Amino acid sequence: MKSFVHWNRGRTPRQAHRDLDGLKDDELGRQGFQGRTAQLYRRHDPTRFRSAEGYGPHDLDAGTLETGDHADPRGTPRRVYWNADCRVAVSRRSAPMPFYCRNVDGDEMWFVHRGTGQFETEFGPLRYEPGDYLVVPKAVTYRVVPDSADNLFLLLESVGELQVPDYGLLGRHAPFDPTLLRVPEPEVLEGDGREEWEVVVRHGGELSSIFYPWNPCDVEGWKGDLFPFALNIRDWNPILSDGVHLPPTVHQFLVADGLMVCHFLPRPAEGRKGAERVPQYHRNADYDEVAFYHGGSFLGHPLPKGLMALSPQGLHHGAPERVREYAREKHDEISRVDWEIIAIDTARPLHVDPELRAGGPSSG
Ligand SMILES: [Fe+2]
Repeated sequence: MKSFVHWNRGRTPRQAHRDLDGLKDDELGRQGFQGRTAQLYRRHDPTRFRSAEGYGPHDLDAGTLETGDHADPRGTPRRVYWNADCRVAVSRRSAPMPFYCRNVDGDEMWFVHRGTGQFETEFGPLRYEPGDYLVVPKAVTYRVVPDSADNLFLLLESVGELQVPDYGLLGRHAPFDPTLLRVPEPEVLEGDGREEWEVVVRHGGELSSIFYPWNPCDVEGWKGDLFPFALNIRDWNPILSDGVHLPPTVHQFLVADGLMVCHFLPRPAEGRKGAERVPQYHRNADYDEVAFYHGGSFLGHPLPKGLMALSPQGLHHGAPERVREYAREKHDEISRVDWEIIAIDTARPLHVDPELRAGGPSSG
């Protein structure tokens, strides 16, 4: 439900997220920041809670996570979070796939954190480098061919079709120039002497294989509006406001049933005196949030590369109070926010890999 009926009770700042005068700014929002919302102005930091086992924040270091495809070329990425709409996984593939693959369970989005190489697709090859998204639609045949052994990918598998959102009043002036999407040129791959080519198919959650007597990348040409593509985060133009910290949904890159992918990328900091530059404390009432720290810095401090953090819906999170105080103190010295964070928000609660959960929830 959307409503323009707003109330103001008790002690509040005149403008949300600005001139807090010691109040702790806490947002309760529906529909992943796109629905009704309330700002609550507290005396205390709402993230200073202790959680028992089960419901609580969770984080992990993707850079050191052992994955099936790290040790074994025939292995698969490691699923870390999942629900009925999607799977979030980490790939540390260290050698080319010795087979092609075809995911019939959903679309795939690969985000490259580390490494270079090529996605060999039936539409043609797509080179990759750090900061690239590669979107491989459901049922497309491809394989990952890294240049070296050191690779780290964040992988999202979505049951619903991954699509670019409607950018509303921006219309065609989207935060990226659509012609900067990289689309493959067809390239027929000839045989190399083997008798048959294996395609590992994921269907109904099960893996099985089909075999062709030739390389399945034999497309001479293609046309249409369904194709794999790549986009680098450097080609994104963040939307910003000088006077107020904008909600994460203005940074949406992809949406699908039950999920959205946003990213927080380098931009000038809010410049108006009194405007909060650190995202307000918040509870996302209707979405779990996964944040993947690709790199960059915040308030001059490097971010932990490869960290993944899950904030379940309804749970307060946000930077601690000392960081907010530091940001206000340094207002005149710091003029940019140089973070590089990829976020996957899901409407259904995410399950956590039990082995990773066993490590215990962390605070923050
Ligand atoms: Fe959040």
